[in-house]
Amino acid sequence: MTTIAHLTDFHLLEADHDRRRGVERWRLRFLSFGRPIDATQRRRRALAALVEARRSGADHLVLTGDLTEDGTPAQFEVLAAVLAESGWAPSRVTLVPGNHDAYAGGDAWARALRGCLRPFAATSGPGTAVSLPGVVVAAVSTAMTQPVTRSAGAIAARELSQVASLAAETRRSGDALVLAQHHSPLRHVIGVMQWLDGLINSADLMTLLHEHDHLHVIHGHTHREQDAPVRAGAPPRIFCAQALVDGPSPLRFYRVRHGRLLSERTRVWSGASAFAMA
Ligand SMILES: [Fe+2]
Ligand SMILES: [Fe+2]
Repeated sequence: MTTIAHLTDFHLLEADHDRRRGVERWRLRFLSFGRPIDATQRRRRALAALVEARRSGADHLVLTGDLTEDGTPAQFEVLAAVLAESGWAPSRVTLVPGNHDAYAGGDAWARALRGCLRPFAATSGPGTAVSLPGVVVAAVSTAMTQPVTRSAGAIAARELSQVASLAAETRRSGDALVLAQHHSPLRHVIGVMQWLDGLINSADLMTLLHEHDHLHVIHGHTHREQDAPVRAGAPPRIFCAQALVDGPSPLRFYRVRHGRLLSERTRVWSGASAFAMA
C-alpha cells in the first residue's frame, strides 16, 4: 500500500539575514511579523521533520510550498542543503512553490529548479507527475508575481489543462490522482480575502474535483491541519497540514486504497490567525 508523507510551510531563512539592508530587510521583517526570525531553529525543525518522514518508511514525500520566507537564492540553497542532509532521494520528493517563494521574483522558483534544486526538477517542475502504485502525484504551482502585501495564488491555464487530462487518464486506469499545491481550492468566505489570500481560479479546480471522485488535493498555506470534503457529507479529498514553521507536530501521512487517499489522522484545529500572511 502506498503511503505519502506531507510537510508544508518551512519558511526557511538564510543564516546571514542580519546583513540585509533596505528593501530586502524590510521585506523579511514584514513577512516574518509575529514569528521569531531564527534561521537556525527553522532549519533544525525542517531537518528533524524530514528525517522523521524518511524514517517512517513513507513511499513519497510532498512539500507544499512556502518552503522559503521570501524566495531568495540563499534560502533555496538552505532548502537544498536540508533536503540533501535528510537523505530523501529526489525521485521520491515532490516540491511545489508557495506565495512566499515568489516574493523575491516571479521566476525565483524556476531558477532554483535549474540551479540548486535541479535534482528535484523531474518530480517538481511545471506539469510533472510521479506514478506510484495506485496513485499519481502531480506538482501544481500556484505561485504568482505579486507584492508582499498580497498572498494569493493562481494555477496557469496550461497547468489546469494538464490536470484535466491527467484526471481523465487516471480515471480510466483506476489510480488516485493527488495534486500537490500550495493554495487551497476552497474559497474564503469573505470575498476580499479570496482576492487577497485565496486561489484566484479556485472555481476551475473545484469543477474538476466535482467531476472526478478520484481527484484529491494536498496543500499548505492556511498553516492549519484540515481535512475537507468536496461535497457536504462526503469523505474528505482536500487535505492541509499544519505549518512546520509554527507547529509542534506538522507531519501528516496519507494511505492510498482503491483509488482514494485516506488521511491517517484527523483532528480539529483549535488555533487562530489562520489567514495572516500565510
Ligand atoms: Fe502561503
Ligand atoms: Fe506559509
